[in-house]
Parts: sequence; structure tokens; C-alpha cells
Amino acid sequence: MTSVRTAVIPAAGLGTRFLPASKAIPKEMVPVVDKPTIQYIVEECVAAGIEDVLIIDSSGKSAIGDHFDRLMGLEAALEAKGKTTELEVVRGLAELCDIHFVRQGVALGLGHAIGIAERHVGDEPFAVLLGDDVQVDGGALLRGMIETHEEQQGSVIALLEVEPDEISSYGCIDPIPIRDNLYGFERIVEKPSAEEAPSNLAVIGRYVFTPDIFDAIRQTEPGVGGEIQITDAIGLLNQTQPVTGFSFKEGRYDCGKPLDYLKATVEIACMRDDLGPAFKDYLKGFVATLD
Ligand code: UTP
Repeated sequence: MTSVRTAVIPAAGLGTRFLPASKAIPKEMVPVVDKPTIQYIVEECVAAGIEDVLIIDSSGKSAIGDHFDRLMGLEAALEAKGKTTELEVVRGLAELCDIHFVRQGVALGLGHAIGIAERHVGDEPFAVLLGDDVQVDGGALLRGMIETHEEQQGSVIALLEVEPDEISSYGCIDPIPIRDNLYGFERIVEKPSAEEAPSNLAVIGRYVFTPDIFDAIRQTEPGVGGEIQITDAIGLLNQTQPVTGFSFKEGRYDCGKPLDYLKATVEIACMRDDLGPAFKDYLKGFVATLD
């Protein structure tokens, strides 16, 4: 068992980049191949050894709760038809791990959403995985971040090098190398312009926090977009308790963004043993027809 027992998955955002799909369906329930994005994320928690998950949702997102619940009518119908494989899939979802829910009444920002987890998390370190960021690596990134938290005894944030014209969509640090893929920083800024960005290292949707982040969130004023930004709270925390950046290279898809969502769908379908061979054959033929 790891020192980090709880993962928080904020999934209460409005999903404006994924409209119209996200109007009546939570964007976290939009499937990549045949699984909703949030299922990949819960499976990642389990792969990294975390078995207590708190999902922050909001009104209109109850489909997320239903997805991880028992559905007796469907189970009975599958049993009656002898569809045992499908029955195992449906039942297995309710047994993945302990899943709890709490609501964010108003989408006041990611920092605000994480602050709502305080009562559940208590005085322990915890992980945060964004509900629309799919990481395909069998839990390796999260495990590495937890090990770094244990070693450094502080909070850890995931970093990914992005193209200069993409940095304005992310939080960004001025890296101070520690060793290998680990960095400290003095400054962290939310959504800087390409010219103002202190580096092209973007803060990506995986975090391991000490409970001190909750005090930092309480002290954080609304920032970019009028939202309580977790980036600003991390900047405050870093002043009293150094935060470590953990850079990684592969496996991340921002499924809240249509282009990344398409890449995730194609690449994850190609990785699948059941669909991959036939889908790759189709793709090769299709690509040959493109100009
Ligand atoms: P995003 O900015 O990607 O999500 O937040 P969004 O606000 O839903 O999407 P767009 O930008 O309008 O398309 C990252 C994560 O934080 C959650 C979102 O659900 C997403 O998983 N979030 C964001 C909250 O839970 N509450 C908030 O107030 C804001």
C-alpha cells in the first residue's frame, strides 16, 4: 500500500471546449473507444495502488455515479441471456475501488473544486487526477510521483514539455533542475502568453499534494478567468514548502480537447488486442486515400 491512500478526481467543470457533446452528457463520460474517460482515470488510480477515490461532480453529472454503481436490471438481463463476459464488465465497474462523490455547486475553478475534498481527505497526502486527462501508462506516472512525494516529503506536480504556442493553455514554471526529471521552481504562472512564459514546461493534470494545499487554496484569490486557480495555490504553497516538478514524456491525452480526443481514440484503439489488428488494417487503407 502506498503512503497516498486517496485520489481526488475533479469532474465538475463546464466542458465548454467539448460542446455540444458535453451539453447533456458530462464530458468525463464521453467514451474513448468504448470506455468513458473517467473510467480510464479510476483504473489508473487502482494501477498506482490507490483504492479510495473521491469524484467532485456537479448537477447534471449524475451519469458518472451511475456508471460506477450496480445496475440490477441490466445485470439480470445479461445473466438471463448468458452474457457472462458483459456481466463481469458491468459488475466489475462497481467493484473497482471505493468511490465517493461530492458536489461542487458552482464551477468556481479547479482550486475551488480541490478545496471541497478537504473533509474527505483529512490530514493526509492525496493525489489529484483531472477528469478529462487520460494517461496511458499503467499507472507509472502516478507511481513515480508518489515515490517522489515520499522521498521529498512535499507536493509533486506533473510537467510536460509543450510547443511554445500551446503554453498559454497551461500553468507554467521557471524550472530549477534538481536531478534527472525533477525540478524545483520559484515562479508558477497560469496561462502565460508565449512571450511571457518562463519555460515550455506545462503543468499537467496529475498532482500529489500534502494537506497543506488546503490552507493555500483558502488564501488564494480568484485569478485568471475569475476562478480560484490551483496554479496560484501551488505558488503560495511553494513559498513555505517546496513543491517538486516531475517531468514525463509520454502517454497523455487531453480528452477535453477535440483534437487530442481524436488522437486518443485512434491510438488506444490501435493498442487494443481485440480491435487493434482490424483497425490498423482499415487505417492503413484509409491513410493511403488521403492527399
Ligand atoms: P478544464 O478547464 O479542463 O475543464 O478543467 P472545464 O472547465 O470543464 O473545461 P472547458 O475549459 O470549459 O472546456 C480541468 C478539470 O477540472 C475540473 C474539470 O471538470 C476538469 O476535469 N473542474 C474545473 C472542476 O471540477 N471545477 C471547476 O470549477 C473547473
